[in-house]
Amino acid sequence: MSASTVAVIVVAAGSGMRLGHSEPKAFVPLGDDTILGIALDAVLGMRETPSIVVVVPADRVDEARARYEPLAAAASAPFDVVTGGATRQESVANGLAVLPHGIATVLVHDAARPLTPSIVFDEVVAAVRSRGHGVVPALDVVDTIKRVDAHRRVLETVDRTELAAVQTPQGFPRRALDAAYAAATVEYTDDAALAASADIAVDAVPGDARSFKVTVPADLRRAEAIVAERTGPGGARRGGLPRIGTGVDVHAFADDPNTPLWLAGLHWPGERGLSGHSDGDAACHAMCDALLAAAGLGDVGGVFGTGDPRFEGAHGEVFITETVRRVREAGFVVGNVTLQLVGNRPKLAPRRAEAEALLSTLVGAPVSVAATTSDALGFTGRGEGVTAIATALIVPA
Ligand code: CTP
Ligand code: MG
Repeated sequence: MSASTVAVIVVAAGSGMRLGHSEPKAFVPLGDDTILGIALDAVLGMRETPSIVVVVPADRVDEARARYEPLAAAASAPFDVVTGGATRQESVANGLAVLPHGIATVLVHDAARPLTPSIVFDEVVAAVRSRGHGVVPALDVVDTIKRVDAHRRVLETVDRTELAAVQTPQGFPRRALDAAYAAATVEYTDDAALAASADIAVDAVPGDARSFKVTVPADLRRAEAIVAERTGPGGARRGGLPRIGTGVDVHAFADDPNTPLWLAGLHWPGERGLSGHSDGDAACHAMCDALLAAAGLGDVGGVFGTGDPRFEGAHGEVFITETVRRVREAGFVVGNVTLQLVGNRPKLAPRRAEAEALLSTLVGAPVSVAATTSDALGFTGRGEGVTAIATALIVPA
């Protein structure tokens, strides 16, 4: 695979005066990482893995390298950390100075916008490539805007249809941005203004509300709430990826030959039952364990308690219904569940369709059921009990 021709410069060298935290803003904790770390997650989530240059305060270069270089390496992203300057513009210039050869498109991004979705980066890259000039993500201005004088006297209402609130990442053809930076003699508030001063055309493309800049403490609280929400219990929803879980349960056949058999949610007349605090339905318990594990919610013993009198003799349906409720409450939908029984009896084949229909209804997603023997080996082969193994796939809702 040839290296990407895209680079993202993440500027993170500001002190964050307005945030008023003891750490420089980019190094302020956010979720289980830092503002910079979350911003880099989004960059690493781009469709095309870019070269990354992070610009940080001089005393943070080693820390940033130690913390984030391994993440970039795992994604095969070329990665560099450099010291920032006294202004944002100087910091960007320091990043531009170390861009690798072969870079054709440069995106400049504020670490202070940690929740910018990866797709915004992808769209800016695509727009720079197709248009051949500068691109900035921007939002429509929704408030009514007034021009005021030095005494805050309202002078006039500004036509907001002519206004756009711009964000980052701002993207440019590399050669054009290099030339504009080399020519700049004054400070600009963003790269688009600097580019415009060098007569580079700049287009606005749709921005994203999640790209808001963490500037004052209230912004940090808002970012915290969003990260907590998207992370879910135990980090469950981070990245929005599907999650799988495995569950295994083993029950011995009961000593009493009159114990009824309940397995895979069905009653099996004429078959010897399994022992257990509940009805001994190893299949349903394995399914619950798989679902709970996938959602990061623990296991059947922890959720239902093996000594809880409410579940004495309870059938699998009770456990599955409550498990699925909890999985949904944690923000997931069930994709599918597979179940395999290991044992000599009962013979599943004649009732497989019935078991699959019942369990699929309970779970609200396809459940497939298979069975095998253990070739006369071990406790299942000796007919002493049944093993059930389940796998569950769940998806963030
Ligand atoms: N930035 C930078 N180098 C500077 C100043 C700012 O790399 N000398 C970066 C910041 O780290 C931030 C982005 O530019 O990611 C936008 O700047 P801003 O939000 O103003 O951050 P700070 O300058 O750190 O905050 P403040 O202005 O409140 O001090
Ligand atoms: Mg600033």
